[in-house]
Amino acid sequence: MKTIGAAVVGLGAIGRKHADSLKELEKEGFSVRLVAVMDVLKSRVDEYAARYSCKGYYVYDDVVKDPEVDVVFIASPHHVHAQQAIYAMEYGKHVIVEKPMAITLASAKEMIDKARKNGVKLGVIYQRRYIDAVQKLKEMIDRGVLERVFMAEASLMWFRSEEGYYLKDEVARSWRGMWSTEGGGLLMTQAIHVIDLLVYLFGDAEEVYGYTENVSHPAVNVEDSAVAIIKFRGGVLATLSSSLSFYPPDKQYWRIRVFGVNGFAEVENETFTQIAIKGYSPEQTLFERKKENLHKKLFKDFLTRLQEGKDFPINGEEAYKSLEIVKAVYYAMTTKKPAKIPLEINVVI
Ligand SMILES: NC(=O)c1ccc[n+]([C@@H]2O[C@H](COP(=O)([O-])OP(=O)(O)OC[C@H]3O[C@@H](n4cnc5c(N)ncnc54)[C@H](O)[C@@H]3O)[C@@H](O)[C@H]2O)c1
Repeated sequence: MKTIGAAVVGLGAIGRKHADSLKELEKEGFSVRLVAVMDVLKSRVDEYAARYSCKGYYVYDDVVKDPEVDVVFIASPHHVHAQQAIYAMEYGKHVIVEKPMAITLASAKEMIDKARKNGVKLGVIYQRRYIDAVQKLKEMIDRGVLERVFMAEASLMWFRSEEGYYLKDEVARSWRGMWSTEGGGLLMTQAIHVIDLLVYLFGDAEEVYGYTENVSHPAVNVEDSAVAIIKFRGGVLATLSSSLSFYPPDKQYWRIRVFGVNGFAEVENETFTQIAIKGYSPEQTLFERKKENLHKKLFKDFLTRLQEGKDFPINGEEAYKSLEIVKAVYYAMTTKKPAKIPLEINVVI
């Protein structure tokens, strides 16, 4: 089997996790090789190219023109995802890009079109789908263990201080907390994870309403808190409560609670916290916490499917859905009317 050449673009905390995960896969004998890293900060390129014993590029053009690179792993700030992904796909590279795939629906559509037209794979990183408890919850729903699922509550209550997050350093201040570069706030960057899980569990949304606020981050003008109601085509009604103003930090959580006519189940912070379903006795192991590198798990799945010529389930079309729900909340906020999905992309970019 051909060894897949990988390049990581953007060497912030998460880009380093990409590189670490790829190196671990490499060590485990998986047929992948980290060929190059790239960033706009020369010092980071030098440091990490040396650490990972790979090529270091200061210019993106060099990544896409490197014949040893088969897949570009994009971990740069949100606003460059689409441009970098499209350029790589123009050069016939496969792309795996961090969430959100893009900051506008129009550019997300262009990415999807480019992948199709050029016959390359486009994967988006929603690694929480790979949590065992989440996969088990999906299986329970799909098998009808809860019978008819009619409602869900999703929450993501996190703490990010202004100084420690939005204003942390020059890099953070260059793109976080601005509509032009982050494309939104908590919904676009953090809550989109649980929105994606709702999409994973319940499929396509039909209508969305919501409110956003900035509660405790006056230095930025994006939202740090949001509530939303999402009506799914399959009939499930879901609520979302989410914030970066939650306190105290040591009690932060994200949670999904699913209600069926037969009972309910709840996943919180990567494990089941409750399952109470008529005629169903869950194994104790379902409640055990497992510390896993979910990025690595997702990469392994993406790369295996690539080797086998199979589709990756979190492709552009699938990742578009959570982005569209985020946009629908902003749209509903502006128009003060529920937003129908699909959104008209010429209206809501
Ligand atoms: N899946 C997850 O759980 C998860 C977690 C954290 C971040 N992310 C995503 O990863 C991306 C990066 O987040 P981060 O927290 O590492 O950001 P960061 O600001 O810490 O790092 C971004 C890095 O990209 C570099 N960069 C800036 N412009 C670039 C360009 N044009 N080309 C190449 N590199 C460039 C910066 O110099 C910096 O090193 C974001 O889109 C974010 O949403 C995902």
